[in-house]
Amino acid sequence: MCGIIGYIGDKKASEVLISGLSHLEYRGYDSSGVALMKGNRVEIYKAEGKLKNLVEILKTKPDICNSTHIGIGHIRWATHGLPTTINAHPHTCNCKNLTLVHNGIIENYQELKEELSALGCTFQSQTDTEVAAHLIAREYGKTKNLLRAMQAATKKIKGAFAFCAIHKNEPDKIVIAKRNAPLIVGIGEGENFIASDIPAIIEYTKKAIYLSDYQVGVVKKNSVEIYDENDNLIKNKIEFLPFEAATISKLGYKHFMLKEIHEQGDVIRNVLSGKLISNKEKINLENFKLTQTEIKNIKRVQIIACGTSLHAGLVGKYIMEKFAQIPVDVEASSEYIYRDTIADENTLTIGISQSGETADTITAIKQVKEKNSHIAIITNRADSTMARLADSLLPISAGIEVSVAATKSYMAQLISLYLLAFYLAEQKGITTKDSEIIKLKQELIELPNKVEALLEDSSTTKIKEIAKKYSSFKDFIFIARGINLPTALEGALKLKEISYINATGYGAGELKHGPIAMLDNNMPVLAILNTGVVYDKVLSNCEEARARQARLIGVTNKIERKDKDLFEDLIIIPSVSDLISPALNIVVLQLLAYYIAEYLGKDVDQPRNLAKSVTVE
Ligand code: M6R
Repeated sequence: MCGIIGYIGDKKASEVLISGLSHLEYRGYDSSGVALMKGNRVEIYKAEGKLKNLVEILKTKPDICNSTHIGIGHIRWATHGLPTTINAHPHTCNCKNLTLVHNGIIENYQELKEELSALGCTFQSQTDTEVAAHLIAREYGKTKNLLRAMQAATKKIKGAFAFCAIHKNEPDKIVIAKRNAPLIVGIGEGENFIASDIPAIIEYTKKAIYLSDYQVGVVKKNSVEIYDENDNLIKNKIEFLPFEAATISKLGYKHFMLKEIHEQGDVIRNVLSGKLISNKEKINLENFKLTQTEIKNIKRVQIIACGTSLHAGLVGKYIMEKFAQIPVDVEASSEYIYRDTIADENTLTIGISQSGETADTITAIKQVKEKNSHIAIITNRADSTMARLADSLLPISAGIEVSVAATKSYMAQLISLYLLAFYLAEQKGITTKDSEIIKLKQELIELPNKVEALLEDSSTTKIKEIAKKYSSFKDFIFIARGINLPTALEGALKLKEISYINATGYGAGELKHGPIAMLDNNMPVLAILNTGVVYDKVLSNCEEARARQARLIGVTNKIERKDKDLFEDLIIIPSVSDLISPALNIVVLQLLAYYIAEYLGKDVDQPRNLAKSVTVE
C-alpha cells in the first residue's frame, strides 16, 4: 500500500507534498515523511501516526519549507517493521546522498540486505525500502548517474515497487521506477508531479503519464523522460485526468463515508445511464466485447474479487445464475491465486475492484489471462492497472471514493452486475425470463428515488437511535438468506471495519449449525427479511434466535402485524422485490455501521490498520 508523491517546479515543495499526501491518506496513514532538496542539501522530516503530526513538524521549519522546490514524500501502511518514525520513509543510504520513497514490497530484501551488509552497509530501520536505498546508492557509486543506478538496482529487485529517488549530486531531478505498483507523472507548466494516484495531483494538473511496469524515468522541472527496460526512450501518451478537485471534498458532511452513502442515488443513475433506457428496451452494454455467439458459448462464469467487491460478486452470482443461466463461481482473489484453477475460452472471468489496484485480484486476473478466458473488469478506476488488463472494461463511474469503507462503489458494482446479468440473458435469448427482467428493470429505474427516500431524515433518525442503543455491544450477528446473504456479510464487514465491533454475517439457516450457541441477551442479531422465497424461513430463524434471548433487529420491506413483536427494533425499507432488495438493505446497514462508529467516536474514514487500496499481497 502506501502513497508516494514527488514535486519539482517553482512552488513550495513542502506544500505540494503535504497536500498530495493528504489525498493519499486512504492508502495508509500510520506514519509519513518528506525529503526536501535545495541545491545539494536534503532535509528529511518524518512522523509517526497521522499526517497532521508531520504537518506540525514542518511548521517549525519555515526556512527550508519556504525555500525548497524539489521534494519527495510518503504516507505509510506498514508492511515490514512497526509504524515508527525510524521505519517511516524517506530512507537513505549510509552516506545520506541518496533518498528514497517506496510503495510496494521487495520480496528478496533479506537476501539483498545480507549482501549489502557484507559490503559494509548499516541499516537503521526494519524496512525493505531501506535495502533498496542502499542498493541504488551502491549502483550510483559505480556509474555516478542516478538513472543508471536505478536501472541497475531495479534489475536486482524482486517484488513490487514504485520508487521516487533524489540524489544530492543531481539536484535538478527526481528519478522514478515502477513495477506492479501504480505511478503517474503529472505534467505541469515549468513543474512536474509524481504520485501513486490522481487525487494527489488533481488540484495542480489534469494531464498525466501513466508509467508501465519496468519503466524508469527522469523527471525534471521542464522535462520528463521515460525509458523501457531495454533503455529505449519511450514516448508515453499524456492522458487527461477524468476528475475534478471538488470530488475530493466532504461537501459539508462530517465524514467522506456519510457523503458517499448519500451519493448513492446519483451513483445508480450514472451506472444506468445509457445502458438501461427503458424497461422494454434491451440493455446496451457496448463495452462488453463478446459477440452474441461467444456469449452463447460461455459455459461458466468466475467472479474474482476481495472484501466488499467480493460481496458484490456474490449478489452477481445469484442474479446471473437465475437470469443468464450460467454457473457462477465467486472466488476471493487471495485464495484463487494459490490453487490450480481451471479456466478456458468458454469461461467468462469477471474481476471486480473499486480501486483496480488490489494486488491479489491483479495477480489472479493475470493468471487467468494466460488461459484465454475473456476478462471483464468492473472497476471504479478506468485508469487502473486492472482496467488495463481488461478485454471488456465496465467502469462503474461512482466518482472518487475516499472513505476506506466502501459504500457507493459497492452500490455501483451491484447495479453493474444486474445490468450484466440481464444483458447476458437477453443476448442468449432466454425468453422465459423476459417478463421478470422487464419488471426488475423498472425497479432499477425507480431505485435511485427509493435509496434517496431511505436517506431522508425520518429513516435515518430511526437508524441513529438504534445505532446509539446497540453501540455498547461487543459482538453482533447479521443473518439473511438467498440474495441477501451477501448483504449480511457486507453489513457485518462495514460494522467491524469502522467500529471494531466483532460482527459476523451468517446464512440464517446456518445459525442452528453452530453460531446459535453464542446467542443470549448480550448478542444483537440483525435479520434481513424481504418478502420473497425465503421470507418465512428467515422469520423461523428469527424465532429460534429470539427463543435464545437474542436481541433482534429486523430490516424488512414488510412485516405482518403478528410478527412485529418478535423484533426489539424494526427498520422498514421502501417496497421492493426480493431480487433488488440488496441495494436498499445495504444502505440501512451502511448507515447503521456509520452511526455506531460515529457514536463511539471512531475514526470513520480512516479506520485503524486498514488502507483503502490493498496493493500488497
Ligand atoms: O479496491 P477493491 O474493491 O479491490 O478493494 C477490495 C477490498 O480491499 C475492499 O473492498 C475492502 O474490503 C474495503 N475496506 C471494504 O470496505
